[in-house]
Amino acid sequence: MADLTDFIQQVKRANDIVDVIGSHLELRHSGANFMARCPFHGEKTPSFNVNRNLQIYKCFGCGESGDVIKFVEKYESCTFMEALEILAKRANLKMPETVGERKDKEFNERKKKKDVYLQICRDTAIFYYKCYYGPSGAKARAYIEQRGFDADTVKKFGIGYSPDNDSLVKFLQSKKYDLEDCVKCGVIQNGKYGYTDALYGRLIIPIFNMQGQVIAFGGRGLDQRTIERGKYKNTSETPLFVKNQNLFAINIAKEQKQQTALNNLVVVEGYMDVIAMYQAGFKSAVASMGTSLTENQAKWLSRLTDTVYICYDGDAAGQKATVRGLDILDRAGLEVRVMTVPEKLDPDEYIKKYGKEAFEQLITEALPLPDYKLKLLDASFDIASPDQATRNNALPKYVQGALVMLKALDDVRQARYITAVSLKTGYSEDYFRRKLSEETVDEPLPELTVTELSPEDKAKYFVAACLLRCESYATIEEKPICNSAFLSDLYDYLLTCKERDEAPTTDMLYTVCPNGTPEQYGQILDLDFSKQRLEKNERYFKECKRIITVEKLKRKREELMAKIKNNPADSSLLTELSELSKKITDIK
Ligand code: GTP
Ligand code: MN
Repeated sequence: MADLTDFIQQVKRANDIVDVIGSHLELRHSGANFMARCPFHGEKTPSFNVNRNLQIYKCFGCGESGDVIKFVEKYESCTFMEALEILAKRANLKMPETVGERKDKEFNERKKKKDVYLQICRDTAIFYYKCYYGPSGAKARAYIEQRGFDADTVKKFGIGYSPDNDSLVKFLQSKKYDLEDCVKCGVIQNGKYGYTDALYGRLIIPIFNMQGQVIAFGGRGLDQRTIERGKYKNTSETPLFVKNQNLFAINIAKEQKQQTALNNLVVVEGYMDVIAMYQAGFKSAVASMGTSLTENQAKWLSRLTDTVYICYDGDAAGQKATVRGLDILDRAGLEVRVMTVPEKLDPDEYIKKYGKEAFEQLITEALPLPDYKLKLLDASFDIASPDQATRNNALPKYVQGALVMLKALDDVRQARYITAVSLKTGYSEDYFRRKLSEETVDEPLPELTVTELSPEDKAKYFVAACLLRCESYATIEEKPICNSAFLSDLYDYLLTCKERDEAPTTDMLYTVCPNGTPEQYGQILDLDFSKQRLEKNERYFKECKRIITVEKLKRKREELMAKIKNNPADSSLLTELSELSKKITDIK
C-alpha cells in the first residue's frame, strides 16, 4: 500500500492539473485560478474552476470536484487504476509491477496476454475493413447501401466484411501471431477443417470497449444459407469480451459525453438500431446485444449519464427478464424511462418509416419505470372492463402486481405511487402501506450526508483541513473518534504522514477518501486560509482540538462507568474515574 501511495504522489507531481485539464478543455485565466465550461454537466457560462496551487478542480455549478486523477477518471469514464495508468503514461512513468493488483505475477502474465489479444483484434478489424472496400466486398457494400447507411456511418463504426474461410487466417499468420492466441480471442476457430475465420462470409461489426479498443466482433449473415446458421454470430466470450458485461457502441456514447454532458442515453437491442440512430443524429445509443441488462452494464451506464431511455422491440420490452434488467438500472441510481415503439417496429425500422422527428417524439413520451410497469399491468388485467366478473377477477391480481412495483421504490416515490395506485384500484392508501410494511425487509440505510454538523464533527473537519494544508500551528497526536469512513480514512492518512515524517497534501484527499460526498469534500476544501484569517484560524484550531479531546475523554468515562457497573467492588476503577472526571473539568 505504501508503494502505491508513493507512486500516486509521483504521478501527480508529474502531471500538473492545469496542463492535463487544459489539454481537454479551453481554460481561461481568472485571478489565481483557471475557469472552463464544466464537462460534467451542460452549461453556457463557465463555473468549472481549476486551482493550480491546490492541484484540484471544482465546479460551482454541479459540485463535482477532485484532483487530477479523479478528473481523468470522470473524463475518460474509467477506473482509478486506469486513470493512474493513463497519467503515468502521459508522464513517461512506468507502472511499477508491484503497484496495487499488479503485485502478483499471474496478473502480469494475464495483462501481457490481453495486450496480445487486443493487437489481434485490432489487426483483424483492419483486415475486415479493407476487405469491405476491396473487390470481394461488393456484396457487403450493396447490402449496406440497400439498408440506407452512408459512407460516414460505415467509417464511424468500422464496418467490415469477411470474404471467405481462410484469408483472415493467412493474414494473421503473416503477422506472426500464434494461431492458438487468435483462437483464444475468438476471431478464428479450430475445427474439422482446421483453422477458419469465425465469422466467415458475414458483414462485420466490431465491438469496442470504453477505451475505444476492439474487443470482439458481431457478424451478420447476408445470404439465406448463412442466416440459417444464425442471423448474427458473435466471436466467442474471451478474456476481453463477456457479452452481458459490455455494451455495443459504449465508446461512441463516451465520445459524445466528452463533447457535451449527455442528458440522455438510449439503450436498444440491436447493432443496426444503434447504427441507424447514429445516422439519424441520435449519437448516444448503445445496444445490449440481445441479453438482459446486468449490474456491470448499469455501472458503465451510470458513469456516462443519469437518465437512461430503454427502447426495446415490442415483444421483448414486457418480458420478465427485461423488467428485471430495468430494475437493476433503477437500483444503480439511474432514472429509467421506457419508450414504446408502435407497430412492433424496431428503432431502425421506425426511423426509416416515420423519420427522426417522430422518433424524437417517442423519447419525449417515454414513461418512468413505475408508470411503465403499471401500463404492463393495465394490459394484463382489465380492471376497467365493463363486465363486472372480469373486473372482479382482475382487480386482486392487479393489486398484487402493483405491490411488487411499489416495493421496488424508495420512500419518496413510493408515497407518490401509493396515491396513484389507490385512486386507480379503489383500495385505500392505508391498505397498500400496511401490505408493504408487512413484508418489507429492512435494508441498511445509506450513510447520511451531514448538513447540520455537530460541534465535534465540525472540529474534526477543521483540524483535518489545517493539517492537510500544513498550517504551521497544526499538529495532531492521536486519531479522534470518527463516525464516518471519510473522516476515519482521512485521519489515518494524516497520522501515516506524521509517522513517516512527510507533509500531507490537499490533492491526496481524493485518493484517501475516494467516496466522499460533495459536502464532505467541501468541509475540507471550502475553508478560508487566507493570511488575514491566520490568527483567527489558529485560535479556532486550539478550540477544536479541545473539543475533540473532551469528546474522547467522555467516551473513555462512559466505558469506565460501564465497567464499574459490572465490577462495583473494584476500587481502582473508581479512582480512575475520579481522575478522569477531574481531567475533563480541567480541560473544559
Ligand atoms: P437486423 O435484423 O439486421 O435489423 O438486426 P437488429 O439489430 O434489428 O437485430 P435484432 O433486433 O434481430 O436482434 C437484436 C440483437 O440480438 C442483435 O443486434 C444481436 O446482437 C442479437 N442477435 C439477434 N439474432 C442473433 C443470433 O442469431 N445470434 C446471436 N448471437 N445474436 C443475435
Ligand atoms: Mn432491425
